[in-house]
Amino acid sequence: MKNILEETHISFFKKLLDDRCSIKKEDLFKYSHDETEDISVLPDLVLKPKTTEEVSKIMKYCNENKIPVTPSGARTGLSGGAIPLYSGIVMSMEKFNKILEIDEKNHQITTEPGVITEVLQEEVKNKGLFYPPDPASKGSCFIGGNVSENSGGPKAVKYGVTNEYVLNLEIVLPTGEIIWTGANVLKNATGYNLTQLITGSEGTLAIITKIVLKLIPHPTHDLLMLVPFFNAEEACKVVAEIFREGIIPSGLEFMEREALLITQKFIGENSIEIKKEHKAHLLIEVDGFNKEILMDECTKIMSVLEKFKTDEILFAESKSQKDKLWKLRRSVGEAVKAHSIYKEEDTVVPRYKLPQLISYIKKIGNKYGFKSVCYGHAGDGNLHVNILKENLTKEQWENDIPKAITSLFKKVVKLGGTISGEHGIGIVQKPYMKIAFSEKNIELMKEIKSVFDPNGILNPGKIF
Ligand code: LAC
Ligand code: ZN
Repeated sequence: MKNILEETHISFFKKLLDDRCSIKKEDLFKYSHDETEDISVLPDLVLKPKTTEEVSKIMKYCNENKIPVTPSGARTGLSGGAIPLYSGIVMSMEKFNKILEIDEKNHQITTEPGVITEVLQEEVKNKGLFYPPDPASKGSCFIGGNVSENSGGPKAVKYGVTNEYVLNLEIVLPTGEIIWTGANVLKNATGYNLTQLITGSEGTLAIITKIVLKLIPHPTHDLLMLVPFFNAEEACKVVAEIFREGIIPSGLEFMEREALLITQKFIGENSIEIKKEHKAHLLIEVDGFNKEILMDECTKIMSVLEKFKTDEILFAESKSQKDKLWKLRRSVGEAVKAHSIYKEEDTVVPRYKLPQLISYIKKIGNKYGFKSVCYGHAGDGNLHVNILKENLTKEQWENDIPKAITSLFKKVVKLGGTISGEHGIGIVQKPYMKIAFSEKNIELMKEIKSVFDPNGILNPGKIF
């Protein structure tokens, strides 16, 4: 595979895209990284196509000339999916920024991939409709990135992750052909499900150029509470009990003490009193269309909580208080990143196993001498484990931490879970794929990759 583009290649792309083809240093730097740890690789060229036909021409040319292409959205990913590991071309999808149709009669939206997720959500909300998947970065991430990574977010616990909303995709194959993967229907039992195969394939199989999503009616009411616990394991135990009471919350988030402290400091907010005995908090939301039913659900949740040791519960009384609490929760990732060099592990286990997971994380931290900050979507059994570098030596960071992560992932798999719930494998989890899968599983995935991308030019070096 070529790493450095020849002049003839650059003139081809300049002719095709004019000023949407850049070799400027600042552009190369901008597209060399996403939000993943501290990894960065410079591409040789940044392209910003704006039509499917342009994408097709680029792919055909790159396939014939074996030039690596890395698709790029808003670069908010946490597993390195948008990093051009082998340099070559970064294909930014930012010019694909139009919502094409909101089909109110069928509760569907057709959109280009470069639309910001929250913008899409607001547009459909104006029509009483709801697109639930809401990654923490919803204010800046692109819907195309969400489809590529099969993103989750707090609402997933009740409404499911991205793949449950993707009905149909227009894609450009690495060879340049353009296809639709399915049909704009809610049921589809027609052959292999290519729509679902592309969703979550981390930009390794095709470039997504149009997306058809399912929408649902937007809930009209929600209630939110923040519950302090004196023990983190105890907070994790409550999670499964809430579901066993017959409640499906629309958010059930866990934040360890340190996560809240670091985040309040980061956003300059201290309205939540975090006493020294508070070891963790649960943020619990219920939503729906009938306030009485929601009140009843809260009463049931309270009766579960009474069986555990909690401190005084904060009920958000106004929209602004709710927004503040969600802002706090959504800022944890960014705050930890600003606090220390770190590694983020996106563990997920069946929710009843959460207490075992949190206690193992702390045990392994003691063994290898690292501090971790844990938070995440407890209702899904999905904990983000942030391992802080702080005062660890280079030797510890490079040699011991991968060993600790290996032990952690082995435990996660033993508990019936897996190594990424919503951030994807990309570069950073790649060394651990063998913990999650047998050789045969990986071989099948590699074969699928080579059917789509025989020359291995699309997002090379990711997943396996
Ligand atoms: C979150 C992102 C990091 O849950 O997934 O905040
Ligand atoms: Zn998350």
